[in-house]
Amino acid sequence: MKKSHDYIIFPLDVPDYDQAMKYVSLLKDHVGLFKVGLELFISQGPVILKAIYETAGSKIFLDLKLHDIPATMNRAFLAASTFYPEFVTVHCDAGDGFLKEVADNNPGNTKILAVTLLTSLNRANLLRLGYKEKYTEDLSSLVLLRARLAKETGCQGVVCSGHEVEMIKAELGKDYIAVTPGIRPAWSLVEGDDQKRVVTPRIAVEKGADYIVIGRPIRDASDPSDAAKMVAEEIEAGIE
Ligand code: C5P
Repeated sequence: MKKSHDYIIFPLDVPDYDQAMKYVSLLKDHVGLFKVGLELFISQGPVILKAIYETAGSKIFLDLKLHDIPATMNRAFLAASTFYPEFVTVHCDAGDGFLKEVADNNPGNTKILAVTLLTSLNRANLLRLGYKEKYTEDLSSLVLLRARLAKETGCQGVVCSGHEVEMIKAELGKDYIAVTPGIRPAWSLVEGDDQKRVVTPRIAVEKGADYIVIGRPIRDASDPSDAAKMVAEEIEAGIE
């Protein structure tokens, strides 16, 4: 049975092995998954995945946002799956051919999550990249189009904002996994915060998020495990 802390994905947004493993040891009983992104993976390599697996089991969210030709994607995904991550992320941008190739050759239990549209891209950026106005005027229609494509080609879910979860669940079904970043509990204050369209942990799970990515409010707290417990309590209230 999924517990409230299992909803929490803690990003290991730190530059080195020692700092990453400090948080893994401290938080392994208080969060559901540890997210390894490009910074940590490029600086430490697969060694960090092995160390997390040995300390916390397969609580790994490998956020590499893979994006290449199908054959390369497929081989990268197979290599990643040997470290038993629970999830690996891929970009929808690479097209359905590649998504299908990866999904069809998935050897084990690792689930594939698609990144629909980077939240750093706004309407003007997308127009410059050649997107149709029909989609740049309504970014949620682009997110939905891509989430549907990812589902049709065998991905198990998407990464989406807390403002899109309800739409995705309504259109694609409650079993289609939604992972939501941009989470800020009411009590947290992140200095110079770059997350603009945030939601609280409780609202995210009420809207249907299966996992929330929450980093700085936990990492920068005076007691990170206490902060993670407070987030789990909020989640508990949202899933009751
Ligand atoms: O909670 P905090 O803002 O510290 O979380 C930052 C993490 O969330 C980073 O690892 C980042 O990659 C991830 N993320 C994000 N915004 C998105 C998608 C992912 O901040 N739209």
